[in-house]
Amino acid sequence: MAPSLLSADFADLKGELDSLQAAGADLLHLDVMDAHFVPNLTFGPFICKAIRRLTPLPLDAHLMMTHPHRYLEPFAKAGVDGITIHVEATCDVGTTLDRIGELGCKRGLSLRPATDLGELLPFLDRVDLVLVMSVPPGFGGQSFDEGAPGRIAWLKQRRQEMGGQWLISVDGGINDVTGARCREAGADVLVSGSWLMKATDRAAQTALLRG
Ligand code: DX5
Ligand code: ZN
Repeated sequence: MAPSLLSADFADLKGELDSLQAAGADLLHLDVMDAHFVPNLTFGPFICKAIRRLTPLPLDAHLMMTHPHRYLEPFAKAGVDGITIHVEATCDVGTTLDRIGELGCKRGLSLRPATDLGELLPFLDRVDLVLVMSVPPGFGGQSFDEGAPGRIAWLKQRRQEMGGQWLISVDGGINDVTGARCREAGADVLVSGSWLMKATDRAAQTALLRG
């Protein structure tokens, strides 16, 4: 269970982080947007470093950036545990994943809902996590892409065939209903933003997602 902080109240960051930890979150999903790869702009290593000081939960930085390879060291130094890049980024994806590993971080690879899953194949032997986007990246609160469970099932099959150890995660439009469908299809990690963050009882919602 990985809450996305995109819908959190950043004016009360400590309170939000404590509430998510108490609700049973396993890790925190940090949405980094560069106003180029996606139209939205959020935050960078500076804020990740502050979050690192405020919570013991593992942090995964989801880099929705055109040039993620230029910023790996600052994110690693900020203390994130995982760095997820996009296969559509303008960088050498394999080299960038290797560098993330060298920096001591988990290597994540994500793709837009419209991107062919085959684009991932050259890299599946050097990732720790695949993040299936179930909304076009850029904003919280969008509706779930119906193609996502099928894509998750396809990845689960590939993982079995190749004897891979990587986790399958899904991000975008996740609630109790879509989360259950993704879990059944084979998702290991559910990222939830607006649905979870707006809940009055986050512990109950987290338990629902866990199934
Ligand atoms: C979208 C982000 C998501 C977003 C999910 O670009 O990558 O992590 O926060 O938010 P919801 O759950 O509201 O779709
Ligand atoms: Zn995300």
